[in-house]
Amino acid sequence: MGRRKRPLPLIENLEIIDAGAEGKAVGRWNEKVVFVPFAAPGDIVDVQVFKKKRSFYEAKITRIQQASPLRIEPECSHFGLCGGCKWQHLDYTEQLRYKQKQVKDSLDRIAKIPYPEIQQIIGSDNTFYYRNKLEYTFSDRRWLTDFDPSKEEGGPEDTNGLGFHLPGMFDKILDIEKCYLQKDPSNAIRLATKKYALKNGLTFYNVRNWEGLLRNMIIRTSTTGDLMVIIIFKENDAEKISGLMNFLKESFPEITSLMFVINDKKNDTITDLEVQLFAGHPFIMEEMPPAIEGQTALKFKIGPISFYQTNSEQAYKLYKTAFDFADFQGNELVYDLYTGTGTIANFIARCAKKVIGIEYVEDAVKDAFENAALNSIENVDFYAGDLAKVLDESFFEKHGKPDVIITDPPRAGMHVNVVKQILVAEPEKIVYVSCNPATQARDLALLHEKYDVKKVQPVDMFPQTHHVENVVLLVRRQVGSRGGAGFISREDAKGQVLFHATARRRKVCFTQKRSGTMVWDWICYQNKRRIINLNLIHQSPYF
Ligand SMILES: C[S@@+](CC[C@H](N)C(=O)[O-])C[C@H]1O[C@@H](n2cnc3c(N)ncnc32)[C@H](O)[C@@H]1O
Repeated sequence: MGRRKRPLPLIENLEIIDAGAEGKAVGRWNEKVVFVPFAAPGDIVDVQVFKKKRSFYEAKITRIQQASPLRIEPECSHFGLCGGCKWQHLDYTEQLRYKQKQVKDSLDRIAKIPYPEIQQIIGSDNTFYYRNKLEYTFSDRRWLTDFDPSKEEGGPEDTNGLGFHLPGMFDKILDIEKCYLQKDPSNAIRLATKKYALKNGLTFYNVRNWEGLLRNMIIRTSTTGDLMVIIIFKENDAEKISGLMNFLKESFPEITSLMFVINDKKNDTITDLEVQLFAGHPFIMEEMPPAIEGQTALKFKIGPISFYQTNSEQAYKLYKTAFDFADFQGNELVYDLYTGTGTIANFIARCAKKVIGIEYVEDAVKDAFENAALNSIENVDFYAGDLAKVLDESFFEKHGKPDVIITDPPRAGMHVNVVKQILVAEPEKIVYVSCNPATQARDLALLHEKYDVKKVQPVDMFPQTHHVENVVLLVRRQVGSRGGAGFISREDAKGQVLFHATARRRKVCFTQKRSGTMVWDWICYQNKRRIINLNLIHQSPYF
């Protein structure tokens, strides 16, 4: 007989002390961190633990004993279930305060390097209806919430749904009545599509047995007023497809690009599939104000699978921050790493000598060239490839070493090889744009070998969520003095060891390196009366 599992604890009167990782609030109980979604700092709550790990618990609120003064009434009726806007119950000023803190915590706890005062986070003017892209999923088994009136009567007659995945659940779709993230007619199109499908017997997808005609729906909007709708079908049922597409075309004349995809694969990715045009144009146009007043606005052509920042207004503020940090003089060779569709490269190009963008999605690189041509920008070049492999000394030899590097990696941050090559290239400035302050902080610690952080500017691209972008300016450190071989000797009381530079008698500094390590070469970069910091260039192979 197996061991009977002990029930997981119900914790009463847990005080929520912080807003932590992945948007979950944080409490402490019996020396353990307790992560509680949908709680607010300052709440006193009863929670039921549902996951127990060695150093933390995950728990669900069962009762709010005392609501935090930071709480506000969420706009959306789906709050608490939908994973989209987990911070809707926090006042926007508080959201911004916690985002700013997230950046500071990452710099303090992960980077552990000196940095100047963090500039006040740039908030978003629109705190709702700011997304230009949403993807909905059809399901023949919508998630039945506790509030579903039909639940008590043995379930509803109609189990179809069109909406979002529950957080972390690939097979559970929450039917959405109204979403506050994208401007209308987004809600109207979704609701009308569902109604038409039910009335005309178009089946909704079942992700477990891979059956059902309707799979996904993507709606993209732009500040120019263009509107793209893409419906993803499981199979090529021409009659039903044209029925729904004609219905959308007639009901929503504001759609400027109506497209569909047949996806009979088991996964939802459409980047490897043909997107077929049903009506209108195969792209939408987006416009962005220029980096410098007086220049013409930039135009971007966005195809059905092209990447474009999802909050267009904030994207401008993000790029403008990066541009201002770089402080171009007009004669710089700039590398734009992780360039995507070349938006940053094209945004800054008019103020630099040349910009080279690198990106591994080939279609994005094609878009980048097209966007450059569309804006009559000629001093940019783009290369497709994995940065961890493409960026090496032969690339620098061929294209020249950059004066400035702008880097905007995905959430995982930069590959260690990319960091190494940046340190080899030694640009004067690096502007690091990041959507994940934790991985950015890790990379900043590595770059600290040669760079100092001079400016830090968080930007909020995603109100109502815990996500925050952060832009950091790094400037190459002026080398103070350089010495020959040295020797690391004994440890002091704090576990640090003393370093003796043999060429300079009695100069000593503290380092964390292992006692007994021989150092071939060193640079000291805070040269006051004595060396207080040390940069190992080569470590002896004999230790
Ligand atoms: C955060 S997006 C930045 C896009 C662009 N800077 C913008 O603002 O539109 C990161 C980009 O890095 C690309 N990428 C991810 N890993 C890569 C790699 N190893 N080598 C090259 N590009 C990569 C992704 O395809 C994506 O376009």
